[in-house]
Amino acid sequence: DDTVYLFVVNHPHQKSTVELFKFVEDDNSLVHLKTVRHDLLTSVNDIVAMGPDSFYATNDHYFSDFILMFLEAFLGLTWSNVVYYSPKEVKEVAAGFYSANGINISPDRKYIYVADVFDHNVHVMEKHANWNLTHVKTLQLDTLVDNLSVDPHTGDIWIGCHPNGMKLFYEDPENVPASEVLRIQNILLEEPAVTRVYADNGSVLQGSSVASAYEGKLLIGTVFHRALYCEL
Ligand SMILES: *[C@@H]1O[C@H](CO)[C@@H](O)[C@H](O)[C@H]1NC(C)=O
Ligand SMILES: *[C@@H]1O[C@H](CO)[C@@H](O)[C@H](O)[C@H]1NC(C)=O
Repeated sequence: DDTVYLFVVNHPHQKSTVELFKFVEDDNSLVHLKTVRHDLLTSVNDIVAMGPDSFYATNDHYFSDFILMFLEAFLGLTWSNVVYYSPKEVKEVAAGFYSANGINISPDRKYIYVADVFDHNVHVMEKHANWNLTHVKTLQLDTLVDNLSVDPHTGDIWIGCHPNGMKLFYEDPENVPASEVLRIQNILLEEPAVTRVYADNGSVLQGSSVASAYEGKLLIGTVFHRALYCEL
């Protein structure tokens, strides 16, 4: 059907839920349909919808306890994963990430892209009929990759990145986190084109985490700073 659904990652009391909404065009409102919770949805960072109540989710950590989460990152454990959720079946479909972050899908719906923020790369995974994912390739990038947006017309991947991620953890007005937006074209080719479309030392925009292009315009969002509108 033509119904527009909205999937929202929520973290009530340090736990993870996914909230499903239906958009009602007549009165421009959202109707809450349900709250999804599951033991495999431990530390959800991002999701990509597969149907009205099914999705892939990245868990950026194995642990949800704050101290254990810190230890996990500190020890460099690769226990972060991707989970497929539907009301009938929930399962781990990819594992072995330092910290799986942004997730998205190619316009032909054949490939899933997963950003591993601490490993500085984007994984291309092939999606199968049983929803399992198999690894196709990894594109190494010299920056911390956060959320991924896919242009539905061109298939380009737009990434909000952190060139100096540690600065996100210190609130030092003299030493603010920078911003960087990368555009990946033809990720399946041997040599995909990687373009640094936007870069700033933090004087304009701090901690870019997401970038989305639409009809010659670009919106860049951040972890806790403002959003930036650019004309391409
Ligand atoms: C982008 O990523 C950050 C951290 O990984 C997350 O907190 C934020 O909600 C994401 N934003 C969007 C628009 O997906
Ligand atoms: C950041 O860039 C701006 C503009 O180029 C410059 O004026 C400023 O000194 C830079 N700040 C730092 C901390 O490098």
